[in-house]
Amino acid sequence: MDNRLFFPATQRNKNYIGDVLSRIIKKGAILEIGSGSGEHGVAFQKRFPEIIWQTSDPEILNRKSISSWINYEELNKKMPKPILLDVEKIPWNLPMEIVNSLQGIVSINMIHVAQWSSTIALFRESGNLLSEGQFLILYGPFKIGNKHISHSNYVFDDYLKMQNDLWGIRNIEAVSFEGKKNGFFQEEIIRMPANNFSIIYRKVSY
Ligand SMILES: C[S@@+](CC[C@H](N)C(=O)[O-])C[C@H]1O[C@@H](n2cnc3c(N)ncnc32)[C@H](O)[C@@H]1O
Repeated sequence: MDNRLFFPATQRNKNYIGDVLSRIIKKGAILEIGSGSGEHGVAFQKRFPEIIWQTSDPEILNRKSISSWINYEELNKKMPKPILLDVEKIPWNLPMEIVNSLQGIVSINMIHVAQWSSTIALFRESGNLLSEGQFLILYGPFKIGNKHISHSNYVFDDYLKMQNDLWGIRNIEAVSFEGKKNGFFQEEIIRMPANNFSIIYRKVSY
């Protein structure tokens, strides 16, 4: 059965995000948090055949879509099945082969459509799982100095809060402070198209 979902933004941003990943991905496994439709997952698995891309999502419809995308792209032999993962349910239940080869964690457009405690949990558990030199990458809209960087982000933030008043575009400094508390150094902030950012956090030992 074809359960593929189509999230239009993924088609617009996947190559730009892939370019950022291409600078830091080497080998091993990458865990993606909040994979949504799975379109990013299959695109990155195809672009980086030397790594194992582990998708995850708390929503069953999204996990079904991810599985359908994996089938559709004939990646079953290479790519693991999506796992049920809600960042707030710590510890995360990851397959041992992923834990053993994990080199980084990626989360795209997730933290603004989840409550703030999800950001806290994301850094806390990523900090437990990753070792010195490994990375966590976030992609999405952010505020800087608690200010929106565009009018469209301001409107989008209002729209998010109308759906759920705990959602909203996060302040980059507050996000990076959570990183710091869990041993992550904010290595780079990369301005992306459509008023988004990629933020690369690197695990350090304090
Ligand atoms: C806007 S969608 C983005 C999906 C995909 N990453 C993309 O860019 O198309 C947000 C995703 O975050 C996931 N999500 C929301 N809360 C979450 C949580 N607590 N833990 C993990 N994922 C979560 C949703 O299920 C959804 O797939």
